[in-house]
Amino acid sequence: MVMGIIEKFRLDGKKAFVTGGARGIGKSIATALLEAGADVAIVDLDIAEANKTVAELKDIGPKVFAAQADMTKPADVEKMVSTVASEFGELNVAFCNAGICLNVKAEDMTYEQWRKVIDVNLDGVFLSAQAAGRQMIKQGKGGSIINTASMSAHIVNFPQPQCSYNASKAAVIQLTKSLAVEWVDKNIRVNSISPGYIGTELTLNSPSLKPLIEQWTALIPQHRLGRPDELQAIAVYLAGDTSPYTTGSDFIIDGAFTCI
Ligand SMILES: NC(=O)c1ccc[n+]([C@@H]2O[C@H](COP(=O)([O-])OP(=O)(O)OC[C@H]3O[C@@H](n4cnc5c(N)ncnc54)[C@H](O)[C@@H]3O)[C@@H](O)[C@H]2O)c1
Repeated sequence: MVMGIIEKFRLDGKKAFVTGGARGIGKSIATALLEAGADVAIVDLDIAEANKTVAELKDIGPKVFAAQADMTKPADVEKMVSTVASEFGELNVAFCNAGICLNVKAEDMTYEQWRKVIDVNLDGVFLSAQAAGRQMIKQGKGGSIINTASMSAHIVNFPQPQCSYNASKAAVIQLTKSLAVEWVDKNIRVNSISPGYIGTELTLNSPSLKPLIEQWTALIPQHRLGRPDELQAIAVYLAGDTSPYTTGSDFIIDGAFTCI
């Protein structure tokens, strides 16, 4: 019997982790993976928030648990991946999403501020993708790694200054392509998602960014921020068996912001 396209999107039996999964985009993607049938580990620095999210999501999916890890610490990341693999039996999907943004003018930025953003957004994605890749190589069955980049990898946001963020996200896309090519013979696909302005804690509750929302929405052709749930379908597509020929790609989802 031929499997129809909707059934192909199901993720039953897949084992996943989502970093930065306690809230915002990560929480929304974790929800979608669970709804599609995957088991999901919610990985975050903020374990209290991650536990709250698990309590909210536990009735949706087969299995969900919280794990604390700082993505900038190699030992934390390795421990997290081995916990996920032993809890679930294996790892098939890694969503490397934890990220931060600092809005500081280049001329005023301290080296520590620069490093902090690069550490979380670039080193953190590398460490989590590397640890996931190692586990998938050991299992010998391939897998899917999805990294969160940003439209800021493609354009320079205005008026807020954020050179470290923009540079880190551009690097995430080139890292994604590099890993996709390195691991193509291991059947590990690596792709990235580049969201435009999405309404989350990062944007809606940041004292420096909140006053800019009106200005941004005037510039976005759709004249609104995106919602985290508007990124769910692409994540499910990339995670599962509907996308075997999709690797090394970046998907911009931004209400046409980068078109103008
Ligand atoms: N919101 C947007 O407009 C937007 C647009 C483009 C890209 N992004 C990217 O999407 C991702 C998620 O953004 P969001 O808006 O949901 O942000 P958010 O601030 O709402 O959530 C980020 C989560 O990551 C966790 N985190 C931060 N540093 C961590 C670390 N070192 N280790 C583990 N967890 C850590 C936080 O505790 C938080 O739960 C980020 O990579 C961000 O750059 C966001």
